[in-house]
Amino acid sequence: MTRAQAEKRIRELRDQIREHDHRYYVLAQPVITDQEYDKLYAELKKLEQEFPDLVTHDSPTQRAGGEPAKEFRPVHHAVAMMSLDNTYNPDELREFCERVARLLPGETVEYCVEPKIDGLAVTLRYERGELAVGATRGDGATGDDITANLRTIRAIPLRLHTAKPPPVFEARGEVYMAVEGFRKLNAAREKAGEQLFANPRNAAAGSLKQLDPKIVAQRPLGTVLYGIGAVEGIGFKTHREVIEQLKAFGFPTPPLWWLAHNHEEILSHIAELQQHEAQLPFEIDGAVIKVNSLDQQRRLGLTAKAPRWAIAYKYSHEQAETLLEDILVQVGRTGNLTPVAVLKPVFLAGSTISRATLHNEDEIKRKDIRVGDTVIIEKAGEVIPAVVSVVQEKRPRSAKSFDFVAHIHGKCPECGSPIRRDPEQVAWRCENISCPAQLKRALEHFAHRGTMDIEGLGEVLVNQLVDQKLVRDIADIYSLTVAQLAALERMGEKSAHNVHDAIQTSKARELWRVIMGLGILHVGSQAAKTLARHFGSLDTLAAATPEQLMEAEDIGEVMAASIHEFFRNNRNREVVEKLRRAGVNLEAAAAERKTAAGAWSGKTFVLTGALGKFTREDATRLIEERGGKVSGSVSKKTDFVVVGADAGSKLDKARQLGIKVLNEEEFEKLLKS
Ligand code: IVH
Repeated sequence: MTRAQAEKRIRELRDQIREHDHRYYVLAQPVITDQEYDKLYAELKKLEQEFPDLVTHDSPTQRAGGEPAKEFRPVHHAVAMMSLDNTYNPDELREFCERVARLLPGETVEYCVEPKIDGLAVTLRYERGELAVGATRGDGATGDDITANLRTIRAIPLRLHTAKPPPVFEARGEVYMAVEGFRKLNAAREKAGEQLFANPRNAAAGSLKQLDPKIVAQRPLGTVLYGIGAVEGIGFKTHREVIEQLKAFGFPTPPLWWLAHNHEEILSHIAELQQHEAQLPFEIDGAVIKVNSLDQQRRLGLTAKAPRWAIAYKYSHEQAETLLEDILVQVGRTGNLTPVAVLKPVFLAGSTISRATLHNEDEIKRKDIRVGDTVIIEKAGEVIPAVVSVVQEKRPRSAKSFDFVAHIHGKCPECGSPIRRDPEQVAWRCENISCPAQLKRALEHFAHRGTMDIEGLGEVLVNQLVDQKLVRDIADIYSLTVAQLAALERMGEKSAHNVHDAIQTSKARELWRVIMGLGILHVGSQAAKTLARHFGSLDTLAAATPEQLMEAEDIGEVMAASIHEFFRNNRNREVVEKLRRAGVNLEAAAAERKTAAGAWSGKTFVLTGALGKFTREDATRLIEERGGKVSGSVSKKTDFVVVGADAGSKLDKARQLGIKVLNEEEFEKLLKS
């Protein structure tokens, strides 16, 4: 091969390898096998050995190059790396929103809600598109130069994915160790008699402090970028645009995020985030809430330590001690077998707890939890409590260790079908897709008040219907007759009629409720509403590609993939067809399609002066709920100006333009009308 040919081939190989790294480490959608990848890599390596002068610093073979360092050079951050203020409960979060509203009088504020990744803050500086410096936060002003270590993380592009890179681009985010990788690393260290890392965060920190990048290269580190530092040559209007740009440059970005308009919406997204916590590849210690508009961010400014435009919502972890009396294995809606602790009832964070999750087989082993132990349980936010540890000193001799598979005799405790554990996954699963337990959970979810709202179709009736094989999927409830229902034990003629009516009535429910009722993994009420609005019908939704799904507001990669997969499954499609034949509404009504449908649709309000009866946020929400808009400045397009005490120039302007001015009482009346 001539030098020119080698040069061409080397370029091709590097492009391909970069592309496959991105697909594998960032998108988690590899298109070639590991062997095929290794072959490309080996070919590149060989050519570079033959033509050493063609080796460049940004070649994929050079990630773990270089000699171990003696120490890390200090790096001064051009833009300080700030920390965040913390909140721990809804009240503190509301205060944050109120402060933002106070500082931006009369303006509508949009917030982004993101996971708070429990890792290490890093900054990656790209000069003319090439990774030049990677550093830790340090004290915020100066950090350590850990470029050589960061280069080994294959999710970090050595070069930005763009033909026209900006002169300077600093990406900021978090390096973490994936939970699975952490477990494997610790297991290997245990075997080798080495000291164990306390948690994934410590393991990630320990890895980045290694002086030898070759060791770092073997650590399963990942990264998520969620912000920028110094940037030249590109401008952004919103935080969302920043994230989109990071993604386009080839960085991993938060896989879940939401937009919100007030503190209630923020809280509901935080709850959704918590529900998805287990599916994230990294550990989180809460959520981060950021004002979306960069102009508003700039005007809100910073305090000495943290920005005023962002806040962390940390999960508070309230704990209690109690006795573990037994362990049950439950089958979930998706077939996962979950070990559940039966506890001596104990009061914790506002309620009495008698059950707690033990997560999975590995967790029980890792924490060495035995029946008869005294355990510490913890409640993080609203979610189900979990057993976190054992009080070893209180272990009785009679405490029995728990063998997950033996306990259920190697079979699904509900239907007796074989169970399977994917080596990649932590959970055992029931292999039977018609497992009655799965169906029961699915039906309960479908009929729930927050979903299709079918009164009378609760746990007891669901169990009867499934056990007597009267329903085999959620759509079957629509063919139940009054006679069938009345024949069930403890069911009177009257209740049978009522339930039958409730089922029939539910056929006309809004589309979002049906979407939610299908039980698609990750799709909660907010997402279901967005999907109904964006796609307008179940058929359009079912036909959407992951890319089209991501065009809908707030729908990220994880959710898009899950929705897409759901509708590729034949059984799920059959259920949808049955729902259609039963006459269930699968279209969004006009009101559901519009973002802002309501009596005040098209009307613009300006709030000014100190309102006494409402917070600005509440007033904004009340207006938006009715379809109106809130604007920051008075113009000819303004319909109403709502004035509080000490209103100034905006009131003058409104008078000048002859715009209707309302005091708070009049505004209240308008709300009620
Ligand atoms: S934004 C100027 N977003 O949490 C504000 N930080 O406790 C910069 N963190 O220093 C931070 N996930 O290291 C932001 N989605 C996220 C985050 C996040 C984790 C870390 C970050 C920050 C620390 C504050």
